[in-house]
Amino acid sequence: VFEACIFDLDGVIVDTAVYHFKAWKRLANELGFNFTEAQNEKLKGISRVKSLELILAWGGMEKSAEEQQILATRKNEWYVDMIHHMTPEEILPGTKELLDNLRAAGIKTALGSASKNATVILEKVGILPLFDALVDGNTVSASKPDPEVFLKGAEALGISPAKCIVFEDAIAGVQAAKAAGMKVVGIGEEDVLGEADLVVSSLEQIDLQTLTNLYSK
Ligand code: BG6
Ligand code: MG
Repeated sequence: VFEACIFDLDGVIVDTAVYHFKAWKRLANELGFNFTEAQNEKLKGISRVKSLELILAWGGMEKSAEEQQILATRKNEWYVDMIHHMTPEEILPGTKELLDNLRAAGIKTALGSASKNATVILEKVGILPLFDALVDGNTVSASKPDPEVFLKGAEALGISPAKCIVFEDAIAGVQAAKAAGMKVVGIGEEDVLGEADLVVSSLEQIDLQTLTNLYSK
């Protein structure tokens, strides 16, 4: 029924939103305006460049493309400093168990993330070897909800999209998976991620039978 699972990173495997928040807030404050957690929520699944555009608009500020590049780089340096201190304890519950079970069952796994920092995060939390393929912000040109990231993941694994299940916490990501012709499990709240085939609050609630059942609907 299914032969591969493709995982989003931020918000599914690790909770890096708090680090993104701290770095964006520091940047906004330096520019002279505030940045709230509610605004940070809206940046889930959104690329670094697009996130900065939104933040500048919220702050009522205009910057040239060149200045935006400098600001995005500055934010990323602070973010990278924080993720370098991540440890395996920061893997979200159920992730390691699910990845181990998938591997034991011969199911392929890929990462499908918008982040350009995905590899270092997986290394820091110690699960890089559990992925058969990595597709991230360095290899993808169109951001979610475009299906490119997930289609590239399926292609890298040599599995047809119809046999892939995606795990996503962002609406844009759920839409990207659907557009790729894949099944999708939403990690979060039903009222936000209702377009997904199944919504759970964490990967702890997922086992192989739950995933098989997605195909009998
Ligand atoms: C996504 C996050 O996974 O990656 C976004 O949900 C983030 O919040 C995006 O902006 C890009 O991440 P990075 O690490 O390349 O700045
Ligand atoms: Mg995410």
